[in-house]
Amino acid sequence: LVVSTQSSSSARSPVNNLTQDELKKIAAYKAVEFVQSGMVLGLGTGSTAKHAVDRIAELMKLGKLKNIVGIPTSNMTRDQAVSLGIPLSDLDTHPIIDMAIDGADEVDPDMNLVKGRGGSLLREKMVETASKKFIVIVDESKLVNHIGGSGLAMPVEIVPFCWKFTLKRLEMLFMEAGCIGKLRMFPGTENPFVTDNGNYIIDLYFKKDIGDLKAASDAILRLAGVVEHGMFLDMATTLIVAGELGVTVRNK
Ligand code: 5RP
Repeated sequence: LVVSTQSSSSARSPVNNLTQDELKKIAAYKAVEFVQSGMVLGLGTGSTAKHAVDRIAELMKLGKLKNIVGIPTSNMTRDQAVSLGIPLSDLDTHPIIDMAIDGADEVDPDMNLVKGRGGSLLREKMVETASKKFIVIVDESKLVNHIGGSGLAMPVEIVPFCWKFTLKRLEMLFMEAGCIGKLRMFPGTENPFVTDNGNYIIDLYFKKDIGDLKAASDAILRLAGVVEHGMFLDMATTLIVAGELGVTVRNK
């Protein structure tokens, strides 16, 4: 596989007939090429990040990566890393992380992200804002022109207390964008999805573009009852995209 590394152009190399999961794996493996021995690593969550964690463990077993410390962004990733023998720590011990690698649900041309459809947005944001480098790994289906405008969910983590009140307040904030909020449920049940932090998630759906992302972010965070939202603005330092035509690495 030939890979193009660039700062802004979009040259690609041919990779044909791959499944979405294979594309995710290509992006993840490419990101792990940037990992060096001795690094403290933020370990992302989701099906793309899972490939990166597998690859890190594989290179550790081969002796090609040594003295790695992982900071997991979810209980799921923690369990995966433990099962693979990756030594783990936390932000209390390592408040500065060398590099984090994680997937995303949407990526806009400025590398702003929507994350959290897997439910781990709070820990992801804590770990990734503490990282000197944040590599985002996606297959090309995640690329959008405007985040929040895809018709798919914009997750917001809220405290369970009076969640309907917070849901209404969130909808009212974005009334002009035709916002509908839905409490996320555990699939196939009538039970609310509960995050690793014991909170609920409201998925916001917009009929129209929400406009200024920074203003939207600030407004959501000002609401009492909100813990964090899934917009990751101006955080990614590198974007790795795998698509049918190849894989690109773009630095901010
Ligand atoms: C989890 C996330 C994930 O990174 C995001 O949902 C992408 O997931 P996947 O790699 O499975 O497509 O933000 O909270």
